[in-house]
Amino acid sequence: MHSSVDYSLSKLTAGSYGYALLSIICSPKPKKFWEITFASAERGWIVPALHESHATSSSPGEFASKLTALPILILNVHSRCNCRCVMCDIWKRETNEQIKAEDLERHRLSIHSLGVRHVVLTGGEPLLHSDLTALCNFFREQNIRLTLLTTGLLLLKRADDVSTLFDDVILSVDGPREVHNAIRRVNGAYELIQRGITAVRQQSPHLPIACRTTVQKANHRHLRATVTAAKMLGLDSISFLAADLTSEAFNRPLVWPSERQSEIALNAKEAAALENEIERLIVEHADDIHNRYIVETAAKLRRIPRRFREHLGQASPESPACNAPWVSAVVEVDGSVRPCFFHRTIGNLNSSTLEEVVNGETAQTFRQSLNIATNPTCQRCVCSLNQRPEVGEFP
Ligand SMILES: C[S@@+](CC[C@H](N)C(=O)[O-])C[C@H]1O[C@@H](n2cnc3c(N)ncnc32)[C@H](O)[C@@H]1O
Ligand code: SF4
Ligand code: SF4
Repeated sequence: MHSSVDYSLSKLTAGSYGYALLSIICSPKPKKFWEITFASAERGWIVPALHESHATSSSPGEFASKLTALPILILNVHSRCNCRCVMCDIWKRETNEQIKAEDLERHRLSIHSLGVRHVVLTGGEPLLHSDLTALCNFFREQNIRLTLLTTGLLLLKRADDVSTLFDDVILSVDGPREVHNAIRRVNGAYELIQRGITAVRQQSPHLPIACRTTVQKANHRHLRATVTAAKMLGLDSISFLAADLTSEAFNRPLVWPSERQSEIALNAKEAAALENEIERLIVEHADDIHNRYIVETAAKLRRIPRRFREHLGQASPESPACNAPWVSAVVEVDGSVRPCFFHRTIGNLNSSTLEEVVNGETAQTFRQSLNIATNPTCQRCVCSLNQRPEVGEFP
């Protein structure tokens, strides 16, 4: 669908960013902003050259002026959710808010002029939205690709909507049956997901449904079992990322105290067990890694236990490759906009248009001053977005 859009997703990945999810191939005519990318050999990250005149510079700040495009928009469309996950505090929210299609109308021009191409609906739980059809149609009529990131508990009830409104689905599965249900603290959650997938598949057999697994204390010994579970559920791919322990994301207005962090974090013995699990995953599922059923490479999988080692002070923090603030924005349910999940807000859609926010003074100053390699938030980041054209795709 949306065939007039001049790009394709190389592979649905429920991977980094949860969100960041995407590896996008431009073809055959890439948009201006990503016609040139800058790769820093020393830092190993890539920044899109927003102004061609800056393409030869090595300072991240020099790329940080006005954005001419924003291909990815992540919308937290509902404040509530339907699980009580141990690693997330979103379920504790007491407000019942949602982003409505009419709220977005005043941003239609910005969405067009910034060339938004892919919208991810998350939350809270997006399937709790009271008018998902209107919300999705707002984007669909603009030929924007739509991804649903969901607990899957309502897939069964909303199979019709899911199969017609979305281009792909990312389902959060935190382990095999017992592990998943324990982490989500919902009896029968896994079984409900299973029935939901079957219902969606009946309606739309080719809709890509990917699995996303957040690695933490409660599932660190079960990664191979989770791959097996994803296959038994009929999911098209699986992606792993480490649980975030230290940011204010996931409804943590105050950073978790260390006792709370240690409920999710791994101790040294558990970190060793995870390293062992990852090595066995790499060996026993070499084919799945090779054919990208498991989205991450072996190197990327090995970074997951490293994150926990860093948390224990046993490894030095290392930022991931990321250009999220230059290619995407995250909109919270109250309209506030972040340059990525983990950095502070740069404005609010209730008082400004999307374009005014992403090209406002706060946003530009943020991007100008952001050095991903040395920024402490980036150094602890568990998921990043590094959107770049595939090698060889460019004329
Ligand atoms: C916040 S949820 C919102 C969508 C939906 N409620 C769900 O669970 O899929 C989006 C993703 O964030 C993940 N997540 C929750 N807490 C996390 C944490 N502390 N660190 C990293 N990812 C986390 C979830 O597992 C889920 O895949
Ligand atoms: S991970 Fe999703 S379902 Fe779980 S508490 Fe957070 S928002 Fe709710
Ligand atoms: S915290 Fe830094 S590395 Fe992580 S997504 Fe944001 S900008 Fe990228």
